[in-house]
Amino acid sequence: MISLKKAAVIGAGSWGTAFSQILSDPFDEVFVWDIDEKHLLELETARENKKYLPGISLAPNVRFLPDLKEVMSESSIVVLAFPSVFVRETLKKIKKHLQKTQKLVNLIKGIELNTLNRVSEIVLQEIGEVGYAVFSGPSHAEEVAQKMPTAIVCASEDEQLALDLQKITSTDYFRVYTSDDVCGVELGGSLKNIMAIAAGISDGLGYGSNTKAAIMTRGINEIARFASHFNASPFTFLGLSGIGDLITTCISTYSRNRRYGELIGKGADPEEALSKMTMVVEGRDTAEAVGRYCIERNIDMPITRAVYNTLFKNLSPQAAVKELMTRDIKPEKI
Ligand SMILES: NC(=O)c1ccc[n+]([C@@H]2O[C@H](COP(=O)([O-])OP(=O)(O)OC[C@H]3O[C@@H](n4cnc5c(N)ncnc54)[C@H](O)[C@@H]3O)[C@@H](O)[C@H]2O)c1
Repeated sequence: MISLKKAAVIGAGSWGTAFSQILSDPFDEVFVWDIDEKHLLELETARENKKYLPGISLAPNVRFLPDLKEVMSESSIVVLAFPSVFVRETLKKIKKHLQKTQKLVNLIKGIELNTLNRVSEIVLQEIGEVGYAVFSGPSHAEEVAQKMPTAIVCASEDEQLALDLQKITSTDYFRVYTSDDVCGVELGGSLKNIMAIAAGISDGLGYGSNTKAAIMTRGINEIARFASHFNASPFTFLGLSGIGDLITTCISTYSRNRRYGELIGKGADPEEALSKMTMVVEGRDTAEAVGRYCIERNIDMPITRAVYNTLFKNLSPQAAVKELMTRDIKPEKI
């Protein structure tokens, strides 16, 4: 059983902060670390994350401290809650302080650009065998922090760890389901960001709900087809970490990937649109990695290919839509 004395959270952005509030109930103490020391000091003194979660008062037993060793020391779980691009380098830092009994709990959605590795694979390479679980699903931090009913999946190959985390984190507004499909849950959480960019482009072009429903439905199909090459269960994509997360990302005003796509749909160049985003747009790297992989291996992923060509090969959003809509007609295959 996981000790409830202390938990560590790495990353004090929107999700790390909101998740630390969930942990503040079951755990005596929650220590949070971030790369940005100034940000930590502001959080510790103001007791509010003005930058990422304004208006939410932070629980008194959540501390924001700049010493990673102190934050991780004697914590039973270490939660990863920072942008995916920093996973490998940050795991190297974490490894120096990680004890054998400590479990890693991943909240990050994204895959590594050059290797296509998922977070659990990078953990295995950088840390080795360690208790590992991943939370994923339709869970915008802004809504969780306001205690709006949210359902999410906790996946681990260690069934007991998933059950323990489910029990610890479930509340009357945060409902946690377990899964053993770590690969499927990680891929669903990462690849939905490509579809969110496509949905945003559709919004920017002024298209309506027919178009968005087509992107979401054909999009989850495409994600499941891709994931079948990695032995993920196709049923995972019918659940919260699959279609659930895809829906919220494609429709929510909070979704930065959708907002990024919207700017492009309205005519911004992909680089110019990126410079206007204040928060990380993980779907861009994911689209590049997955787009390249599919083109090289001839895997049929038309929406991903359209997003990839729009972001990286100067294809206009209008031309991308035309290409998608005028492909060979065929039966609907699920
Ligand atoms: N925001 C959400 O609603 C939400 C929901 C589910 C999953 N996620 C995932 O959680 C992860 C974090 O997202 P977020 O929205 O909290 O990000 P964010 O942009 O709100 O904040 C990122 C935070 O990470 C910090 N940071 C950057 N590099 C770091 C490093 N190397 N070590 C420690 N801290 C570092 C930044 O200083 C910043 O405080 C992402 O992978 C995202 O996809 C986010």
